[in-house]
Amino acid sequence: MTIIDGRLTSAQIKAEIAEQVKEIVAAGGTRPHLAAILVGHDGGSETYVAAKVKACEECGFRSSLIRFEDDVTTERLLAEIERLNADPEVHGFIVQLPLPRHIPEQKVIEAIDPRKDVDGFHPVNVGRSSIGLPCFVSATPAGILTLLSRYGIVTKGKEVVVLGRSNIVGKPMASLLMQKSDPGNATVTVCHSATVGIEEICRRADIIIAALGCPGFVKEDMVKPGAVVIDVGTTRVPDATRKSGFRLCGDVDYANVAPKCSYITPVPGGVGPMTIVSLMQNTLRAARGDVYKD
Ligand code: GUN
Repeated sequence: MTIIDGRLTSAQIKAEIAEQVKEIVAAGGTRPHLAAILVGHDGGSETYVAAKVKACEECGFRSSLIRFEDDVTTERLLAEIERLNADPEVHGFIVQLPLPRHIPEQKVIEAIDPRKDVDGFHPVNVGRSSIGLPCFVSATPAGILTLLSRYGIVTKGKEVVVLGRSNIVGKPMASLLMQKSDPGNATVTVCHSATVGIEEICRRADIIIAALGCPGFVKEDMVKPGAVVIDVGTTRVPDATRKSGFRLCGDVDYANVAPKCSYITPVPGGVGPMTIVSLMQNTLRAARGDVYKD
């Protein structure tokens, strides 16, 4: 059994990106610039955005953090998005989710210029991805594809079971793995809360991608011997022994499942660090103008 080391892989990729940025800047090019909009003070969002800003530093990117209080109006937020869309110095930007309930999330996502949508959440990027056109791919599925590829895990002809159908992970993951590409070319089944016989379906899988947000859901008896298990879960579970008061819990019962696997990602230190590095890769591609050539 091999533990897929997302921390190590992400550190290697950040070093590769930093090298490319050095070359761009030395040749007189512009330093990639990522902006992040953060609304309110949600603990998880604060942590993620701080990690994104830190990753920008490590990659040699410029970063801007734009903060609004919880009571910001939709109009004010949309005006800021318009400003960033028009700012030639910003190559890509994200609006950290979730947003306060009074702000319509989809309207905000659709206000972002797809050419700067380095999160890959805009319907134009989602649609282009699903028909195999150049686009920005959502960071978590992109990070998983990078891990599969760097660990030499073959997906062609394999049975993949994706647990969860979120717009950010489950749906794009299933779509990418069924593409005629490498990684891809897999036979994909998506399971969700209305799926009947989920255990049986999982037992067929060569590769399980668990993205339900349900701690410890994938049990030993749901995994075929030698399967690859990718755990996307990051539920915060109260833990009084930790300084933070919580620990991150994956969707896989790791202790019991790991011995049956050929490869498995731990939580933390598996998919999580790859998500941020994929955002950096998307920002580099935005700065280079690699995706939308017009
Ligand atoms: N909230 C949880 N994950 C993400 C992400 O990848 N991007 C943004 N913008 N918000 C998130």
